[in-house]
Amino acid sequence: VGQNLVSLTEVDSTNNFLKQSLANSTPLIEGTVIMAESQYAGRGQRQNQWHSQPGKNLTFSILLKPTFLPLNRQFNLNVAISVGIIKAIEKVLGPNAKIKWPNDIYFGSNKLGGVLIENMVQGSQIKNAIVGIGINVNQTIFEDGAANAISVKQILHKDYELKALLAEICNEVEVAYLMLRSENFEPLQAFYLQKLYWLNELRPFAANGITFNGIIKDVNPNGLLCIETNNELIQYNFKEIEFLN
Ligand code: BTN
Repeated sequence: VGQNLVSLTEVDSTNNFLKQSLANSTPLIEGTVIMAESQYAGRGQRQNQWHSQPGKNLTFSILLKPTFLPLNRQFNLNVAISVGIIKAIEKVLGPNAKIKWPNDIYFGSNKLGGVLIENMVQGSQIKNAIVGIGINVNQTIFEDGAANAISVKQILHKDYELKALLAEICNEVEVAYLMLRSENFEPLQAFYLQKLYWLNELRPFAANGITFNGIIKDVNPNGLLCIETNNELIQYNFKEIEFLN
């Protein structure tokens, strides 16, 4: 991952760039990384926008071809990617990095980065996976909408070299991806759960317009969040459940 690196000054979104390159049949090897200094239409999960001050942060996308992954195990790729990013972040920031389900990157109770994976399915195979990663590195002022955002610089109190962090993330994502590919998924799953934010804590949630208190117990093989409430274990997908504060 990252052997083939394309550095752009400005682009709408590195995910879009990869998607268009694939649509134009541009031959791209697996592990290709597209990074951009600036995105003018960066995208996040839940139709959110992803804002990042030009030149300050990591915004990049990795092309993977997980054709070996059954469609009902798509979430395993999210697990592997999250694990890779956390391992890299831990090298820089120590053990406080967390994964907020499904794959937000947290440090303590603040959001350090996010992941947007877009799978391109053909028949029963994932032909291409576009793994978009945004990490707040040297930005120190965030807009109002991103009140709980934090950056590497705010934690270390000094600038961090973007290329060095990128290399670290690429290495660790590759290690995790190769584990996934060689069917050595157990350790990835275990690490993911161990790093899961709010695991086994009583927390407020909202689902179907109802608020309730529950405890995150697990993430099942389909990637559903398992929450215990009233001695019942209920599974939610990303659209169904909302975290309250
Ligand atoms: C989220 O937290 O909602 C996911 C954010 C993902 C942002 C990255 S930045 C690089 C790539 N290109 C995009 O347009 N989005 C992802």
